[in-house]
Amino acid sequence: MTRPAFTNPYLTEGNYAPLTEEVSSSNLPVTGNLPRELNGRYLRIGPNPRGGIDPATHHWFNGAGMVHGIRLREGKAEWYRSRFIESEFGAPNTNVVTHGGRILTLIEAGKPPVEISPDLARMAVWDCEGALSRGFTAHPKIDPVTGDMHAITYNPRFSSIRYVVLDPDGRAKHSSDIDAVDGPMIHDMALTETRVVVLDLPVTHAAAKRLAQAGGPMTRLPLTWDDRHTARLGILPVGGTAEQVQWIEAPRCFVFHVLNAFDNPDGSLTVDVVRYDSMFVHDVWGPSDATPTLVRWTVNTARGTVNEELISQHRVEFPRIDPALTGRPHRYGWFAGFNAHGLMITDDVERNPADGFGTGPMIKVDTRTGDTKTHDYGPGRVTMEPAFVPRPDAVSEDDGWILSVVHDANINRAELVVLDAADITAAPIARVHLPNRVPFGFHGNWIDGNEID
Ligand SMILES: [Fe+2]
Repeated sequence: MTRPAFTNPYLTEGNYAPLTEEVSSSNLPVTGNLPRELNGRYLRIGPNPRGGIDPATHHWFNGAGMVHGIRLREGKAEWYRSRFIESEFGAPNTNVVTHGGRILTLIEAGKPPVEISPDLARMAVWDCEGALSRGFTAHPKIDPVTGDMHAITYNPRFSSIRYVVLDPDGRAKHSSDIDAVDGPMIHDMALTETRVVVLDLPVTHAAAKRLAQAGGPMTRLPLTWDDRHTARLGILPVGGTAEQVQWIEAPRCFVFHVLNAFDNPDGSLTVDVVRYDSMFVHDVWGPSDATPTLVRWTVNTARGTVNEELISQHRVEFPRIDPALTGRPHRYGWFAGFNAHGLMITDDVERNPADGFGTGPMIKVDTRTGDTKTHDYGPGRVTMEPAFVPRPDAVSEDDGWILSVVHDANINRAELVVLDAADITAAPIARVHLPNRVPFGFHGNWIDGNEID
């Protein structure tokens, strides 16, 4: 069935539709008991385009960002606020993180971060005294031991990508430009204790340019699948330079997100990723091209090879670990799983790109055994990306909570739902009822009150 171009599934349907108003609400109703240890903010961001959008060419990844914040303190949900992110350079819409005492909203491909105040009232471009003037990434990685923030950035106006390191106070301490042909889309990166992994995969600006010249279907995202571009990984030491990069051919696929990576005693690297066989070939308005699959890459730098193994049969995206294990061996990952009409899609059912990028249940995967647990939020209720929050004095890797925004299509509103990270199959610990819906967007994080009060 061919869908007419004017019914863009990422713009007009259900919870993809943008909100028109900013909202502030206090003393939110809670079902269950919010853990008193959850003292801080859950912040989430996604695209929320405003006016003058052409559905035929609109891509889900474009449009002004809207940040949604929920303040938790002493077992209460003090407030919910939503704010458009404003910037003269094009507003971030992809991730919201904290570093060096700042809350930063982020996007890739040439735009610097926009800092937002803890009450979400004020915002301003923050380019790290010019160090990020060429743009940043939506997926920097913070080493939990050194506190340094590592980023692989790209900007379609330049033929190189840039590896940038910011110190724990948010000052630029290292930068190296790495040559890359065709202008690849580099959405995420991998970091181990000693090495950085660049994902140079076959979605490129060059292919989009060729497609446009041939009169092919185009959206406002100037990137598409590239049959000519070699998939490869660039391995370099932490704090390394372009001359030190070892390029290794990778499985032919696209990856938005890395679960985690770590060094092995034999010198190889383990990199767990969510892979797609293709991207932006069939679905030109969003990322629903192929099945997102959780795989483990073992990168043998001595032989220059990548071995790929399937970790779980479940379709998952938005992979998250305990952030304290970034770059170190992990066992568990939490994910937004995929869903069709309240049921898990099985591998023998083809996804229709016209359904949009629909997530459903929460999924927890034991990457050592492949054991997979599911939390179904009920009919019409689907989760967005999880965030893991460790319990103070946690005794195990999964001793903590999973927080996520859940869309309830029955009442067209959202909740912030708290699950027990060790047993996600149990009933929710708490549900914070938000005054409106939160459109399907990209990424969210817990910002602890000890970091920013
Ligand atoms: Fe992302």
